[in-house]
Amino acid sequence: MSGPPATADQLGAEHRHPGVAHHRHELDRVSRPPGHALVVFGASGDLTARKLLPAIAALEEHGALPEGFAVVGVARTEWKDDDFRQAAARAAGDHSPSWQKLVSTFRYVAGEYGHPDTFSELETVLGELDRTAGTGGNRVYYLATVPDLFGVVAQGLADHGANVPGPGGSFSRLVVEKPYGHDLQSAKELDQALHAAFDESQIYRIDHYMGKETVQNVLALRFANAIFEPVWNRRYVDSVQITVAEDLGVEHRGGFYEKAGALRDIVQNHVMQVLALTLMEPPSAVDAQGIRDEKVKLLRAVMLPEVDAVASMAVRGQYTAGTIGGQPVPGYRQEEGVDPQSDTETYVALKLAVDNWRWAGVPVYVRTGKRLEKRATEVTLQFHRVPHLAFGANLARDLRPNSLLMRIQPDEGISLIFGAKVPGEEFRLRSVGMDFSYTEAFPGVTADAYERLLHDVMIGDPTLFVRTDEVERAWQIVDPLLEAWAEEDSPLSHYAAGTWGPHEADLLLARDLRQWRDP
Ligand code: BG6
Repeated sequence: MSGPPATADQLGAEHRHPGVAHHRHELDRVSRPPGHALVVFGASGDLTARKLLPAIAALEEHGALPEGFAVVGVARTEWKDDDFRQAAARAAGDHSPSWQKLVSTFRYVAGEYGHPDTFSELETVLGELDRTAGTGGNRVYYLATVPDLFGVVAQGLADHGANVPGPGGSFSRLVVEKPYGHDLQSAKELDQALHAAFDESQIYRIDHYMGKETVQNVLALRFANAIFEPVWNRRYVDSVQITVAEDLGVEHRGGFYEKAGALRDIVQNHVMQVLALTLMEPPSAVDAQGIRDEKVKLLRAVMLPEVDAVASMAVRGQYTAGTIGGQPVPGYRQEEGVDPQSDTETYVALKLAVDNWRWAGVPVYVRTGKRLEKRATEVTLQFHRVPHLAFGANLARDLRPNSLLMRIQPDEGISLIFGAKVPGEEFRLRSVGMDFSYTEAFPGVTADAYERLLHDVMIGDPTLFVRTDEVERAWQIVDPLLEAWAEEDSPLSHYAAGTWGPHEADLLLARDLRQWRDP
């Protein structure tokens, strides 16, 4: 991962003032990338405005951009440099003089992605910037277009030699957004198209969950502490739950979501990444190969669902009208851009199994959904019950098994749930929590996921990016579900917006005498 290890001095400072925030440490210590041009394809689009431009602005504010830096937008929209510059100023919502100065250097190329002229013009602009802005022949190409065009753009770049690192060790990197295919076959085809133009070592596939501080903190919790790893296995862990709950609906993305659904949109990527980090073996080093080798090994151990058995291990649901935060909200079928007869799932619950020495027999329950009661992403390790309860069952009725809860968002933190004696004459027991809050320990701003990931691309650190073998394995796991759900009589459950999902998802756990944790 980026950044040098903390020096003894830095650690000393933390020790002398425990709990005192040094929230700028991380950002203050980031290395400045070498000079380069960042080329954004899909520059007039939503993702650029919502995520990329604010991330570039944040990097600028934190002094993490190189001296020689330029941004070039490319899109079909007939804009001029000035239109892009205005969009950049608006998107970042910040008018600091230094950001304005940077934005005034942004360039824009309008053109069709399939047309050679677009790439010739881009080449001319980039050559000019090498001479005037000190970008040194280095390039980061960011694919923020609709996914159908990823391969076309990569080919256009290759045809103009833009994929080949230049003389003197300059670099050329390609950043690819999700969705990375819509099933295993299409992901393989996309890979073929990209690999025809770029080497795997040049490709950075984004999963923004990997850029979240609290997702990375799973690694710290597990591998920077001696007390957790010994119990991180089937001997102590009864079951694992992963929840990615959103209270938002599909917003204005109904058209996109109709073709995606919750399984493709969240489970194939974000959930699989979190699951892999939580359950993988310790890597010998937290670096690109160490982390990604272990993640893919774990994903390979996830048992592939049998198409015929999908009904017994998976539930899909769709929200109907309901109430969120006291406000009435429409059902999925009434959302803009959605077919009124749509069978697209907005909720998924799964029971997965990991077939290896560490996790044999430990069910991994996963759920995600839109328009649930509240936004909450968390991972829970539920431990076994004590082998013998020496207190009367009546006195222990409020006692739950131990669990370790990693709250990824919001309210980021970690809680250990354990039993305590309720004060009083009786020996009554109750579960209580020992809580760590991220914002209390590290007040202040933490880098947004996109800011972090963009910076990692700039310095050439692929640790937090998804490798081709991980993507393929994740599709292998979800493909049988897609196949089963494509059948006409495949059941679709419904749940009212603002609830915790369909009743069938509760039954999935109740059958195993377990229940979902209430976030
Ligand atoms: C995106 C999905 O990848 O992740 C969205 O396409 C979803 O549908 C979003 O809302 C959730 O991200 P976050 O960071 O808000 O949890």
